[in-house]
Amino acid sequence: MPERARILYLSRVFCKVSQSGNLGLSGWFGACPASMMRHCFDMVTTMLILGLETSCDETGVALYDTERGLLAHALFSQVDIHMEYGGVVPELASRDHVRKTLPLIEQVLSEAGCAATDIDGVAYTAGPGLAGALMVGSTLARALAWGWGVPALGVHHMEGHLLAPMLEEEHPEFPFVALLVSGGHTQLVRVDGIGQYRLLGESLDDAAGEAFDKVAKMLGLPYPGGPHIARLAQQGNPERFDFPRPMVNRPGLDFSFSGLKTYTLNTVADCRGDGELSEQDRCDIARAFEQAVVATLVIKCRRALRQENLKTLVIAGGVSANASLRSSLEAALKKEGARVFYPAPIFCTDNGAMIAYAGAQRLQAGQVDDAEARVRPRWPMEELPPLFMAGVS
Ligand code: KG4
Ligand code: ZN
Repeated sequence: MPERARILYLSRVFCKVSQSGNLGLSGWFGACPASMMRHCFDMVTTMLILGLETSCDETGVALYDTERGLLAHALFSQVDIHMEYGGVVPELASRDHVRKTLPLIEQVLSEAGCAATDIDGVAYTAGPGLAGALMVGSTLARALAWGWGVPALGVHHMEGHLLAPMLEEEHPEFPFVALLVSGGHTQLVRVDGIGQYRLLGESLDDAAGEAFDKVAKMLGLPYPGGPHIARLAQQGNPERFDFPRPMVNRPGLDFSFSGLKTYTLNTVADCRGDGELSEQDRCDIARAFEQAVVATLVIKCRRALRQENLKTLVIAGGVSANASLRSSLEAALKKEGARVFYPAPIFCTDNGAMIAYAGAQRLQAGQVDDAEARVRPRWPMEELPPLFMAGVS
């Protein structure tokens, strides 16, 4: 952290600590700057963190207070901007983040009744995601943090998803198995604490959300396709088609959805013949596809829990909003005395609250980045440092 920002920041931390009565002046002056900072972070009882999410096509902003919880959050979805292209156009995404992020910050500050001077740190998504879109959040977060004299921290987008269930009143305890299912990832991860992640399995080709989006396109549905497939599937006949469950007969915890996608494409071609798909065809295909994805995910989750000898599963990421996936997992795990936790539907897809929460845990434990606005469009989650903090890990 640059000297000016560090001095400003330390003085703010000092004020907070002295207000909370945790540290006397002799304790403050006796320590060297680095250890003093670490010490102060540990002693600070509360932090108000601004979280910014700009990794893809949603601008998410939130204010999270480590004592009072989530104070406000706001989201702008770019769905309408990208719809006519059938997918996210990176340049348009970046430009829109530039337009929306500051007004959303003003909105959450006003909703929470807070001033910018109340903010103790800024957390932003540093990766993985679209490079240009990430740069918008990163440069803005760093500029604001510099101006306010507070630290900024780049957060891993998937760690944000993974910790999103912690925003709920009833949340899981470590250790657990997490199924991360989004537009770019399908991963099973053993989680022993914040930053203590071991990859158990992942998709060898398409992510589950990506498969939903591609099948939606085949059925003439708009992007993002997941919610549209789920809606059509409700009217579908579950007996008409029996789609394959990919890789369930092979040992291990990896996934593959590209074969299922091709199977779906062939079914669409068979039903269409020389004409168009009927509405019932579309509903039945959506139902069969959704059932196959859900059944595959359920089988692998049960296998992962058994392998790791754990009874707690967390699902997060956009596909975890899928109602059929939630109810199937709940039913399957109940039989085994295991439990599934997931975020509220609004926090399943990309949002600022999960970034503010994840950033708050790390900033409160003393983790700070230097001033360079770095982003990591590709970033394995296992590279994250573990967080060792009383009561957290
Ligand atoms: O986590 P997310 O918002 O963005 C990424 O980080 O990728 O996930 C978006 C993905 C999209 O592929 C979308 O189709 C899928 O989540 N999705 C769903 C549902 N809601 C969103 N897939 C199935 N069922 C849903 N209800
Ligand atoms: Zn996401």
